[in-house]
Amino acid sequence: MKTKGALLWGPGTRSGWSVEDIEIDDPREREVLVRLAATGICHSDDHVDTGDIPLDWAPILGGHEGAGIVEQVGPGVTDVEVGDHVVFSFLPACGKCVPCVAGEQNLCDLGAGVLGGLTLDGSHRVHARGAGVGAMCYLGTFSPYVVAPLDSVVKIDKSIPLDKAALVGCCVPTGWGSAVYAAETRIGDTVVVFGVGGVGMNAVQGAKFAGATQIVAVDPVSFKREKAKEFGATHTAASAEEALTLVESITRGRLADRAVITVGVGEGKLIQGMQAVVRKGGVIVCTSAAPALQTEISLDLLTLTMSGKRLQGALFGSCAPRNDIPMLLDLYMRGLLKLDELVTTKYSLEEINQAMADLRDGKNIRGLIVFDQ
Ligand SMILES: NC(=O)c1ccc[n+]([C@@H]2O[C@H](COP(=O)([O-])OP(=O)(O)OC[C@H]3O[C@@H](n4cnc5c(N)ncnc54)[C@H](O)[C@@H]3O)[C@@H](O)[C@H]2O)c1
Ligand SMILES: [Zn+2]
Ligand SMILES: [Zn+2]
Repeated sequence: MKTKGALLWGPGTRSGWSVEDIEIDDPREREVLVRLAATGICHSDDHVDTGDIPLDWAPILGGHEGAGIVEQVGPGVTDVEVGDHVVFSFLPACGKCVPCVAGEQNLCDLGAGVLGGLTLDGSHRVHARGAGVGAMCYLGTFSPYVVAPLDSVVKIDKSIPLDKAALVGCCVPTGWGSAVYAAETRIGDTVVVFGVGGVGMNAVQGAKFAGATQIVAVDPVSFKREKAKEFGATHTAASAEEALTLVESITRGRLADRAVITVGVGEGKLIQGMQAVVRKGGVIVCTSAAPALQTEISLDLLTLTMSGKRLQGALFGSCAPRNDIPMLLDLYMRGLLKLDELVTTKYSLEEINQAMADLRDGKNIRGLIVFDQ
């Protein structure tokens, strides 16, 4: 079918997104065609434009946070049918590989190819200007239509608003799970969240959900600090230095139990200042994507050892997509999880470069592209 999509022809060059005609093939074996309601603007797509996530293939159809309605199913699809509502998980969860069956769906073996630009059968489903187009995370949600592998779709209840459900494909589980699962927040904890954008705001509400009594939201943007209070932050700080002084004071010198790093660009030089807010035996969760070619971080390793702290990476917030996407949406429908409040500005697909500029300028908690069809 003919539709449109936002493509990057020069990843890593900050060339911006080109909205143009694309052609999408019919779904093949174990694939579905989905008509999208909305897609979120995640910093990870911007990383591809800036080169922090260096991709050596092009063109790229961006976008990985979306939800919509199944329009067509390929051969062998039995789990969903036309008319079903689905959320895309930016990480596939096949349910069969060793990590999946061992309870680590976020580490599904199929995840290895999410930044490879090819479908699971090694071909392209999208074409533009006569070239095969690679899709972000096997998806490419910067288009009103997506052909996706069955492994990347999670069926949801039809009563759930699809535009809000889109957010549960990336930023919500990533942030929420970083605080709840990866950091293992416990009742009574003090938790510091560095960077309260789309992902970090959900770490704040995750920490609150897990029973943290003090939650410090750290962000240089004052509007984000204010917004964080709505999501459960009890204190705010504008920098890591300010956070350290604050945390020393509110914990009587004991320091925070956990820290979650969800800043836009996870520069290695930030780590030393951020780990300093955590007590001995505490956990520092690194969720931000760092520039891929960066292999050094600032870290006083002796103190890390002597104080028994844990520096923990987290992908998809260590959530299990097939379990946690429906669970988080159930929390939303019961009024226990904020999704509406995450969306600051809505855009059309044609406004994508404005949406990306607003992300970089810190104007949005989450920007949302809404498809009017
Ligand atoms: N690990 C994963 O599974 C996963 C999934 C999605 C996104 N990510 C990554 O998470 C990060 C956050 O994504 P996002 O979409 O929420 O980005 P965002 O741009 O919406 O939010 C980042 C926030 O960090 C703040 N910030 C920047 N520098 C800071 C600093 N030094 N101290 C404190 N705050 C600072 C910004 O003001 C902004 O509010 C990105 O690196 C993204 O690529 C990781
Ligand atoms: Zn994302
Ligand atoms: Zn798997």
